Amino acid sequence: MSIFESILDIRNKFDIDIQNSDDNSASIESIRNKYLSRKGTVAGLFSQMGSIDASQRPEAGKSLNELKSYITASINKRLESFNGQSDEDSEYSDLTLPGDPFPGGSLHPITLVLDEINSIFSKLGFSVAYGPEVDTDYYNFEALNIPKHHPARDMQDTFYISDDVVLRTHTSNNQIHTMENHAPPIKIIAPGRVYRNEDVSVRSYCLFHQVEGLYVDKNVSMADLKGVLNHFAREFFGQKVKTRFRPSFFPFTEPSAEMDVSCFFCQQKGCNICKYSGWLEILGCGMVDPEVFKSVGYDPEVWSGYAFGMGIERMAMQRYGIEDIRLLFEGDIRFLRQF
Ligand code: PHE
Repeated sequence: MSIFESILDIRNKFDIDIQNSDDNSASIESIRNKYLSRKGTVAGLFSQMGSIDASQRPEAGKSLNELKSYITASINKRLESFNGQSDEDSEYSDLTLPGDPFPGGSLHPITLVLDEINSIFSKLGFSVAYGPEVDTDYYNFEALNIPKHHPARDMQDTFYISDDVVLRTHTSNNQIHTMENHAPPIKIIAPGRVYRNEDVSVRSYCLFHQVEGLYVDKNVSMADLKGVLNHFAREFFGQKVKTRFRPSFFPFTEPSAEMDVSCFFCQQKGCNICKYSGWLEILGCGMVDPEVFKSVGYDPEVWSGYAFGMGIERMAMQRYGIEDIRLLFEGDIRFLRQF
């Protein structure tokens, strides 16, 4: 093969290589390496120059230089074609191609459930209040009738920032903030994160969400509380859901209750989600304790009210059939994309 034939041959091979290469700089660079490096194909041809006929040398040198510039220019153009630089000039850009898809995000299941709860309660005239996640002992405990050394503090394993400052263990601190800042009547829900120093497991996490509810007015009764929560349960879980209220204890409500809804996984036939009881506990509630009214300067002889606090993770897990609470906090995109 004469040197001229070799030049043509290499140019053809290069054309095929560059056309078939992937759209990434690594594969283009490997082609550059193959043809243009110090030990590459083109350099190989230059080294043959000494052995060819002197009369052909100028012509051969010219062709070789042309090959080299051709390869250099083609490689640069190819790189530009997907780097987005000087796209218009590139023979490789096709303006009729569809754009790159831009994956849209999705709402987190907790956000979906919170939005739904907000919407149910806002139709009943509740407004939304927010309060601090880092709060003083006073708002998280004292003012809610949980004095220091009260056994009720053991119910909630508290993260202490200092002796007097805690990560709130429930959204009930919002009851105090709201009542301190507003005169009655009051009708709020207060969604937010709460923190408890619990062992992380399938069922519990060191942080979770609650929605607090507080209604204060004249002549509020337990019947009002049950009416509102039954309505909420039917809206959220479906008209067929059954509810029951069990007596319970919270220092800031008297009387206190816990509300269960009928298990909709097994239609109360018994399953491991409801632990074969047919019921799922979703919230704590009760009539605001007069001691709480006293700590915010409301006259308990005039004002009455109810409060409730529900756990959101559990409701989201039930709604979407999520079996491990940790999935809600790990931010794994494969999990989140499903919502
Ligand atoms: N704060 C309570 C808890 O975290 C729930 C609750 C709120 C109970 C309001 C009664 C009234 O368990």
